[in-house]
Amino acid sequence: MKVDTFLVEEFMDAWEHKVELNIAETCVAPFKLNEFLSLVGEEDYLEKLRDLELTYGYPGGLPELKEAIAELYKDATADNILITHGAIGANFLTFFSLVEPGDTVVSVFPTYQQLYSAPKPFGAKVKLLRLKEENKWNIDLDELNELVDKKTKLIVINNPHNPTGNVVEERILKGVCEIAEDVDSYVLCDEAYYGLWLKPEYAAPSMVDICDRAIVTRSFSKSLSLTGLRLGWIVADKEVIKQMAPHRQYTILSCSILLEKLALLAVQNIEKIYERSLEIIRRNYEIMKNWVEKEPLINWIPPKGGSTAFPRYHLDMPSEELAVRLIKETGVFIVPGSSFEIEGHFRVGYGNKTETIKEGLRRFSEFLEKLT
Ligand SMILES: Cc1ncc(COP(=O)(O)O)c(C=O)c1O
Repeated sequence: MKVDTFLVEEFMDAWEHKVELNIAETCVAPFKLNEFLSLVGEEDYLEKLRDLELTYGYPGGLPELKEAIAELYKDATADNILITHGAIGANFLTFFSLVEPGDTVVSVFPTYQQLYSAPKPFGAKVKLLRLKEENKWNIDLDELNELVDKKTKLIVINNPHNPTGNVVEERILKGVCEIAEDVDSYVLCDEAYYGLWLKPEYAAPSMVDICDRAIVTRSFSKSLSLTGLRLGWIVADKEVIKQMAPHRQYTILSCSILLEKLALLAVQNIEKIYERSLEIIRRNYEIMKNWVEKEPLINWIPPKGGSTAFPRYHLDMPSEELAVRLIKETGVFIVPGSSFEIEGHFRVGYGNKTETIKEGLRRFSEFLEKLT
């Protein structure tokens, strides 16, 4: 079965591990295992796991983990949750379970490419809802209304949004939900960056707490800094979760119970983790904001959440050339707009170590100065 080239992953695979300073990182500085265990006050946790039998996990995921995750939502119970291999596994399972030939999937664009490319092999016609810079990357509900029809199975959105860092506010989320109700479709809301609000007033509700049609996917990778666990989850109506169960058996069977135990610790201590994450992204964001403000060739719609932004640059140069030259001449890694099928932009991330961001931006400035 043919799939579209996954542009952002292809560019990252080619360069990410060869560069000196990654200022495009999307995960908030991943924990070292020791650091994580001491943050949650469980320094000797691995000792406690010595007797754990390394057998298959549970169908749907470790029950205590599902219960702890359910408590993050207004009305959820463990029956509303499925544990997956990352948000990428959660999104894939959603498409694999629900999308059939002849369905339409309407997805925001640009976004994490999986969200609009992965439904195609299942036979969906994918329509793109183009987010525009002049509309501050917001969803235009009238345009969404024009794109949906009776064949629409899923409306796909991403909040907070990769790559722009926009946060869709509650009023618009409710509007998306109403449109889904009108055409009897689901809303897949990828909330991989949930909880990363640059100011408390930017916080948005989880789609599943305000919309019966919502299927929400989440990740341990981004806001929770536990990327190496490769875990995520789905929260949705019980009937939808039941419908996904056989598809999960065919693809996941079970996640690692060892890693699910660590994930449980994370969910039980989620406020401490958010505190660390918010401190990192808010500090780094200020550095990036000051940089953008003083660079004459760069401007942006300031992000409101997540860990990424999508600045525009004013140079007569394709974005891939800009990114590759920056890597080769300075060792600094950004992701070109071309990886999101949009020219004139690049993605930066402010979840990484502060020193990396400071030095990366300093070298980026030198590079730009030489060009002018
Ligand atoms: C919007 C979005 N969804 C899903 C993923 C995949 O995340 P995970 O590491 O949880 O599989 C990413 C990764 O960059 C992402 O940006």
